[in-house]
Amino acid sequence: MRALKWNMSHAVFVAEIDDDHKEIFDGVAQLRKALSSGVAAHKVNDLTVRLAGRIEDHFAHEERLMQAAQYSLFSWHELSHDAARKRVSGFIQRISTGDVEAAAALVKYMVAWLHDHTRLADKMLGAFLRNKRRVGKLVITVGTKEFDSCAWRDSRGERLDRLPSRRAL
Ligand SMILES: [Fe+2]
Ligand SMILES: [Fe+2]
Repeated sequence: MRALKWNMSHAVFVAEIDDDHKEIFDGVAQLRKALSSGVAAHKVNDLTVRLAGRIEDHFAHEERLMQAAQYSLFSWHELSHDAARKRVSGFIQRISTGDVEAAAALVKYMVAWLHDHTRLADKMLGAFLRNKRRVGKLVITVGTKEFDSCAWRDSRGERLDRLPSRRAL
């Protein structure tokens, strides 16, 4: 199995995104550790629900950044998140009925997905955001972590319009 720990090969060099990814890697590692020590099904369920929450918060965070920064590959990236959302919710449903094997399958799926997605889609997004900041086309005026707090402005100080989500179209 691939590495379960975040390492520099996963870095996108945007601190708030890298921090989210580290939390998700930690959540997957905790779940695997719990499974290998044979904890009770309700504990497995708690860990997976918490992990799914971290994943959803992170996807929403990246999507807010992409919308606010008018990222041209937003729809493509959002589609990839939606595919993972669907898979994760399928695993969560099975785990909630006591299917511990589904938790092991979730660990395997997330390790592969994180490895592929962070090292391609998220790195491309990170490069876009860093480049826009570097040439002064984007200014982050507040933190980006909390819901609805992505207030991006162009170099003239004008607030940028957000791209619509494909789910809203
Ligand atoms: Fe992403
Ligand atoms: Fe990500």
